[in-house]
Amino acid sequence: MIDLIKKLPKAELHLHIEGSLEPELMFRLAKKNNIDIPYKDIEDVRNAYNFTNLQTFLDIYYAGANVLITKDDFYDLTWEYILKCVEDNVIHTEIFFDPQTHTARGIAFETVITGIKEALADAKERYGITSGIIMCFLRHLSQQDAFDTLEEAMAFKEDIIGVGLDSSELGNPPSKFTEVFEKAKEAGFKLVAHAGEEGDFSYIYEALDLLGIDRIDHGVQSIHSDTLMQRLKEEQIPLTVCPNSNIELKVFEDYKAHNIKELLDYGLNVSVNSDDPAYFKGYINQNFINLCDNLPLTENDIVTLVKNSFRSSFIDDDLKQAYL
Ligand code: HPA
Ligand code: ZN
Repeated sequence: MIDLIKKLPKAELHLHIEGSLEPELMFRLAKKNNIDIPYKDIEDVRNAYNFTNLQTFLDIYYAGANVLITKDDFYDLTWEYILKCVEDNVIHTEIFFDPQTHTARGIAFETVITGIKEALADAKERYGITSGIIMCFLRHLSQQDAFDTLEEAMAFKEDIIGVGLDSSELGNPPSKFTEVFEKAKEAGFKLVAHAGEEGDFSYIYEALDLLGIDRIDHGVQSIHSDTLMQRLKEEQIPLTVCPNSNIELKVFEDYKAHNIKELLDYGLNVSVNSDDPAYFKGYINQNFINLCDNLPLTENDIVTLVKNSFRSSFIDDDLKQAYL
């Protein structure tokens, strides 16, 4: 099984580039940029990665992102992730970034996107890895802030395939962002949103009906509504599931309690993704391996999960057919 997982060419659809910041790079950049970080060494960092829910993770994740200052920093961050893609045989990746995390610190939108974009261009040239960039709005901030970010992004429209919604879910439902998603759709962006990670299944309904999203990120709480499950199945709406993340953030008690096999057996379009791999103990292959170690997934299931990620991707139809 492990051989199959390693061997299969994969696509990744749910990966926050800031969440691929490994402690080693964090230390190097902190030193170079003279940024204080609250850790004395790498081991200290790893010990701090002991989360009880989404918010306890986000606090540490945003603090880590403070070391990213220059275009080269964003390039190096992205390039290190690309090297993991090579290792794990990920041949297509659609990565999230959180512009507001950086612009709020005085880092220009252009600095961030250019560093990421140049690394992805080199990934294509050097390894043939195809990619897309999705900009996420931080849902703990206001819709006006998201509107301002969308406006800033328009100058880089050619570099961004979609918009998403992430950060603290509880208390910040999709309905808070209805108008800005409508505007993003008019501008031609694909739409995704984190929904039903910690929030209940009503967040998934809102993402579908009020935001008109193309994919749900996480979505594991859909299991609590039969009507929603039927709809997700009928419409084959993609759910980008992130097993390691769900365990680390205590969405499920352990891998054996994870519902991905149930979602898959029901006929939903689910895929496996790494979310924030530097914080959640592993990249995409490790997510698959942890699932296989704990759930009765068959080889057929693995192939279906991998195919789902390609068919749910935003790549052009020609390339999609080639990948499938
Ligand atoms: N959920 C919400 N926001 C996030 C996540 C997540 O899993 N990872 C990074 N930002
Ligand atoms: Zn996520």
